[in-house]
Amino acid sequence: MNPITLPALTRVKAAPAKTDVVIAALTGDTDSTVAHVPASVGKGYERKFGQSIEEMAATLGAKPKLGQVTVVPGLNRQRLVLVGLGSADPSPRSVRKAAGAAARAVVGMKEVRTVTVALPADEPELLRAVVEGTLLGHYAYAPVTAEPEDQPALDFSVVSTVADKEIVEQARIVAQAQLVAREWVNLPPNLLYPESFAGAAEDLLKGRKVKVEVLDEGDLVSGGFGGHMAVGGGSSQLPRLVRMSYAPPRASAHLVLVGKGITFDSGGLNLKPGESMSTMRSDMAGAAAVIAATNAIAELGLKVRVTAYGCLAENLPSDTAFRPSDVLTIYGGKTVENYNTDAEGRLVLADGLARGSEDQPDLIVDVATLTGAAMVALGTQIFGVFSDSDEVAERVLGAAESAGEEAWRLPMGEWSAKALESKVADLKSGGGRWGGASIAASFLRSFVDEKIDWAHLDIAPAGFNEGSADGEIPVGGTGVAVRTLVEIARSMQA
Ligand code: BES
Ligand code: MN
Ligand code: ZN
Repeated sequence: MNPITLPALTRVKAAPAKTDVVIAALTGDTDSTVAHVPASVGKGYERKFGQSIEEMAATLGAKPKLGQVTVVPGLNRQRLVLVGLGSADPSPRSVRKAAGAAARAVVGMKEVRTVTVALPADEPELLRAVVEGTLLGHYAYAPVTAEPEDQPALDFSVVSTVADKEIVEQARIVAQAQLVAREWVNLPPNLLYPESFAGAAEDLLKGRKVKVEVLDEGDLVSGGFGGHMAVGGGSSQLPRLVRMSYAPPRASAHLVLVGKGITFDSGGLNLKPGESMSTMRSDMAGAAAVIAATNAIAELGLKVRVTAYGCLAENLPSDTAFRPSDVLTIYGGKTVENYNTDAEGRLVLADGLARGSEDQPDLIVDVATLTGAAMVALGTQIFGVFSDSDEVAERVLGAAESAGEEAWRLPMGEWSAKALESKVADLKSGGGRWGGASIAASFLRSFVDEKIDWAHLDIAPAGFNEGSADGEIPVGGTGVAVRTLVEIARSMQA
């Protein structure tokens, strides 16, 4: 598994004269467009090309629409990458998007080594967003091939008067974590399965002040993790539970993270139809986010204790697979009537949430590509937030906002718990067609100690991009929720 290597990136006070590419902003509307290029780039431009940069841009069809990229010839054989910032004042969100789109455009260019990023970055939050956007947009999943191509390394200079080294360093740590999550999501399921995923988590966290324990099938059986064994029992690649613990001195609070890590979700005996199965290697995006965020939190040295669980299993049909109507015993003893083998994520999460409750944290957050219903409700870019506490929901939405990720709260409702009543076990794992994301959330809540605050992030809507790239978001694995989780931890610091 390839480790993620970031391109070189440094902050510079002013645009260097020698650089292969300059990335600059285009603002305004179609009638009055302004190109915000560094002085060295604009000087002498009209003399050489007989028209202003804006005129040249217009000739080439440039529009200041947010994230739209136009490549314009610059002086001294430079290329000028103009990226739309829209008509509003620059915001962290808009510059992250623009930087991402521009960086992606540069990756495909020939004979480019040095890239100057001259986007609005003269405030700490803007600088952070430009750095994140650049690094996130630069990422591309490399094909598995007999003869890997050696991509020449790029060297980015981000122009900003903000002299705080920490900002760039922190943005780099967070972006790298998000890229690790993306890479894991993109890996094919024959290469990333529970055992290899657990190994990759161990490798990532090596050298970090994080204790990693991996429970294998023997530990899971003897520990009573019936959700994992049921869901993962149909595959010869047996399940794993990865427990990570970061406990810095003088931590102000304790956060437990639980991630759904279904390395492939075929649906099990309730087999999915072909098209819906094709992207189900992404069904471990929650665990990827949780593990990568834990790494970032430890690397940032946040003064918050974090205990994270990656609930890893492969959901396949076979003669050892669990069945609809099986009754399972979840960690801690509660029994569940299995509604549908395709509702597998909640079963491994139930084990993780029950185990995480024993750690007695201040807050538990789980992250999961849990329901198609959340996707029907929210589309493909906004993830769902569930909590039975308004305060916790606000904290999570606030963290998403600071992180520049789009989230929306969805209701739990008493009706959703009713749908889970069972005649043959303590509860059923699902029921009915309507409100499926809320029913799943209610199911999860019943495995968390009532006294512990809890939120559930349903990232089925935003974990995997089947459409086209958009700003910092590429096609395929997105690494969504990593930044929000880091911000949640940050918000719990004293
Ligand atoms: N992994 C899927 C949810 C999913 C769907 C994620 C689309 C990403 C994109 C989950 O395990 C699942 O199959 N959920 C079922 C639940 C149902 C059987 C109660 C669903 O949403 O249909
Ligand atoms: Mn499923
Ligand atoms: Zn699933």
